[in-house]
Amino acid sequence: MKRIFYLLPFLLLFAACNQQPQISSPNGQVTLTFRVNKSGVPQYSVSKNNTTLILWSSLGLACAEQDLTSGFEITDTESQFFSDKWETVWGEERVIVDRHYEMRVALQHQSGVRMDVLFRVFDDGIAFRYIFPEQEMRSLTITDEISEYRFAADHAAWSIPWRTEYYEGLWTKAPLSEQTDTLCSPVTLELADGGYAFVHEAALYDYPAQNLYMKDGALRIYLTPWLDSTKQALDAKAYETLPFATPWRMVILADDLRQMVASRIMLNLNEPCAIEDPSWIKPMKFIGIWWGMHMKSMTWEQGPIHGATTANMERYLRFAKEHGIQAVLAEGWNLGWETWEHFSFTEPYDDWNMDYLSQLADSLGVQIIGHNETGGNAADYEDQLEAAYAYHQAHGIHAIKTGYVSPIIRTVDGLQWNKGQSGVRHYRKIIETAAKYHIAIDNHEPVMPTGLQRTWPNLMTQEGVRGQEWNAWSNDGGSPCSHVTILPFTRVMAGPVDYTPGVFAFENPVMPQTRVHATLMNQLGLFVCIYSPLQMACDLPENYMKHPDAFHFIEDVPCNWERSMLVDGVIGEYCIFARQERGSENWYIGGVNADEAREVTIPLSMLTEGKTYVATIYRDGEEADWQTNPYDYEIEEQTVTAADVLQLRMASGGGLAIAVKPAAL
Ligand code: NOJ
Repeated sequence: MKRIFYLLPFLLLFAACNQQPQISSPNGQVTLTFRVNKSGVPQYSVSKNNTTLILWSSLGLACAEQDLTSGFEITDTESQFFSDKWETVWGEERVIVDRHYEMRVALQHQSGVRMDVLFRVFDDGIAFRYIFPEQEMRSLTITDEISEYRFAADHAAWSIPWRTEYYEGLWTKAPLSEQTDTLCSPVTLELADGGYAFVHEAALYDYPAQNLYMKDGALRIYLTPWLDSTKQALDAKAYETLPFATPWRMVILADDLRQMVASRIMLNLNEPCAIEDPSWIKPMKFIGIWWGMHMKSMTWEQGPIHGATTANMERYLRFAKEHGIQAVLAEGWNLGWETWEHFSFTEPYDDWNMDYLSQLADSLGVQIIGHNETGGNAADYEDQLEAAYAYHQAHGIHAIKTGYVSPIIRTVDGLQWNKGQSGVRHYRKIIETAAKYHIAIDNHEPVMPTGLQRTWPNLMTQEGVRGQEWNAWSNDGGSPCSHVTILPFTRVMAGPVDYTPGVFAFENPVMPQTRVHATLMNQLGLFVCIYSPLQMACDLPENYMKHPDAFHFIEDVPCNWERSMLVDGVIGEYCIFARQERGSENWYIGGVNADEAREVTIPLSMLTEGKTYVATIYRDGEEADWQTNPYDYEIEEQTVTAADVLQLRMASGGGLAIAVKPAAL
């Protein structure tokens, strides 16, 4: 990542005696105030445009060695202004602006322990983290984090419960006051006054993932615990050696959904790129030997309908070449699928000729995406890691999809929550080791993303979502139409999602009651609405060839962007995104709709004024409906300019996709 402007620090020193130090955002609208109350509890509050949004909220850590939740005093405060612009290796935006004020409050506990709280205030939100400088105390066992968000009103929260396996749940909305369960982070809030807030964390490296729960009117943090050998939660949540800093706790504060999805606070809170030359990391669209297994027409393990055979892969590679798709994933190429007890990441089944396929892929200019399913045995994976990545690298493989089918995984520390500290350490080791071998990661069953891709852009995409596969086999019939209209404002806000869009055949002979709740145009719209720099077109080549004209959009749509914006949307009802292809004048617009058919208005004001473009519009036909007629669509071309406003209809479960390119002169 190229830093365009270096930091512009303005150091302002507050007198140590200032008992309520304060900083405001660069535009002056968001203000954060700090105090230590009469009991020595550190607290902060936040206002926006002079209205208090977060009332005095407590900070602190309960530790086995020392209770650090009260008994503090301020010893020093300093604040500075940062203005920076940096370039992403890939992303929704090429250039990201980071402007904020930072305030460091140095605290001394009555026991003598020193703890700083570092705050940042941006135009679109706030963040803070705890920092323990080097001192006499050498280590801390954190048993609870008392950080809270005491919102001034009873906002509506979109959430999934914290025990949702791999975050693969349906998001629901309920007032904060009615949240009786502990929730996964993030949580998206529809504020009582019409604004939005997004509560999450950034830069999670050596700490348990945060969960959130309501207690005494405040949203509080529940850290994922360590487990004992019988899988019972221990008091310990994090073991830390000083000096250390916790992840950032962050809240995006937005006037509307457009501002919320445009916020880049989470990325800005992560460190700059740690990979010296990241030019080998390439966004790619891919197809794969995958959907067949979920639809049960192929198997992962060897047998009469084995998916990952040399012949099948050759067919997929040639199809990819013919249609300009950059890569092909193959699952079930390696030993271990019969029992899931021990997978080998260097030994293929004997009907998979890795040497032949890697040479073929190379000659076709198509990448192979490797697959390392661990079955949740992270320790076994770590034992094989260097050999596995050397093997893939030797076969020209630069991206691997990993998998951990089990929310409690076997780490080097025994059975642990994948989002506990031990799991977080494992995922970090994977990313850092993969980088050494020039391998990008698509992590399935991950810990919720927190923006690490700024530092490690080889962490390209992750699951952590109820993805398309549920529409193949879920006993509840498949995800409701509203699901994909909620994700862009919840899960996708935390980082790229390997949702696997692009189903073109809706019949499911194995599970006739289960299906994709979508029209074909909805499946196209997802390529723009759900961002991923590794974007899978999940269906079988033969199904794509049934609708080659619609498949043309998948061939055409990029997955790396210059700029991105929400055109319009209501969480749970519909959304329309527009994105400009990186390094080009082409724009792509995608929309997805929930159950109720609707007319939408799309102003093309994002286009360059005075220029003429050709828009290829892929839209639901008059009779389209996800239940009765998902294949009814129309494709038309129209000459457009920035002054035009498109009026289009999205069917029930429908969608739209538009490619807008400068007209040939
Ligand atoms: C679950 C993953 O989400 C899916 O994509 C994969 O095919 C299976 N595990 C097998 O690894």
